[in-house]
Amino acid sequence: MRVLSGIQPTGRFHWGNYFGAIRQYIALQDRPDTAFYFIADLHALTTVRNPEELRNYTQDAALDLLALGLQPDRASLFRQSDVPEVSELCWLLLTGTPMGLLERCVSYKDKKARGIRADAGLFTYPVLMAADILAYDSQIVPVGEDQVQHIEVARDIAGSFNHEFGETFVLPKEKILDSSARVPGTDGQKMSKSYGNTLAVFEEPKALTKQVKRIVTDSRTPDQPKEPDGDHLYQLYSLFANDQQRETMAATYRRGGFGYGDVKVALATLAVEHFAEARQRREELVAHPERVREILGDGAATARKKAIEVLQRAQRACGLRR
Ligand code: ADP
Ligand code: TRP
Repeated sequence: MRVLSGIQPTGRFHWGNYFGAIRQYIALQDRPDTAFYFIADLHALTTVRNPEELRNYTQDAALDLLALGLQPDRASLFRQSDVPEVSELCWLLLTGTPMGLLERCVSYKDKKARGIRADAGLFTYPVLMAADILAYDSQIVPVGEDQVQHIEVARDIAGSFNHEFGETFVLPKEKILDSSARVPGTDGQKMSKSYGNTLAVFEEPKALTKQVKRIVTDSRTPDQPKEPDGDHLYQLYSLFANDQQRETMAATYRRGGFGYGDVKVALATLAVEHFAEARQRREELVAHPERVREILGDGAATARKKAIEVLQRAQRACGLRR
């Protein structure tokens, strides 16, 4: 059973990325030949156009994922671009992908609506994603709800290819990541780089505390009781709190007579504590870049072995190879 997912190196990982995706990648890891996770640098190129930035984000993504708990003996971690067979497979899949299928993809429509440069890369982004998935005979693909449509596109593309050329690709199933883990940002909207409302996982404790203090709250006076559910500060606190801490905080909200400032201090303290070990591991990794290179190299070698096998199978099926 192969599990595969990719995450784009388009900025520093934030709490939304961690609780919404990374934490679950870590929970699903098992063996390096069954759990494949990659840093989607080719996809990031559709938004990051500064070479230094792309290099840094990619390196940071590797450090962050390893520090947060991806283990090379339980998962293969690699850079998407280190497996060139995926790009080659992408071309095979592009032929035979109806324009209309891509025109219907919301991520493209959304980005275009937000005025983001619409180039052919952005348009064909779901086909590269299909190649990522199909290249490794992936069965389970953990993704956020926003990516589910892309898995359906991958299934469509694989299905048509199989229909035209005979059984070649394994049809993937999505595994929707826990949607209750939808993390609000400092302004109460969904936390996202594009909204500038993020709290970074590896923020310096002092800077983090400052940012937590800037979380927007309503103008409730301290003595008014308040229902905690639906309050984004409480939701953020709940991500880090244990059951008892959560219940105590909920009771405090309902009782009233507290200030949001105290909740923010409690939240910042828990968050700093929560990532303290990961921060320590990250520092160790930063001091040993050769170790990170080795992990990415090993991951790419494992992934490539599989991708070569699948690419050749596809090439034989469509007549590019005997
Ligand atoms: P961003 O919105 O900041 O650009 P991405 O789209 O790169 O984040 O998201 C990478 C992964 O993190 C995806 O799997 C996505 O589902 C998850 N994710 C991002 N933001 C959140 C959030 N606020 N809550 C839960 N999961 C999130
Ligand atoms: N498009 C995904 C995102 O933005 C990242 C990604 C690229 C991916 N290729 C993938 C996810 C293959 C799962 C499988 O979040």
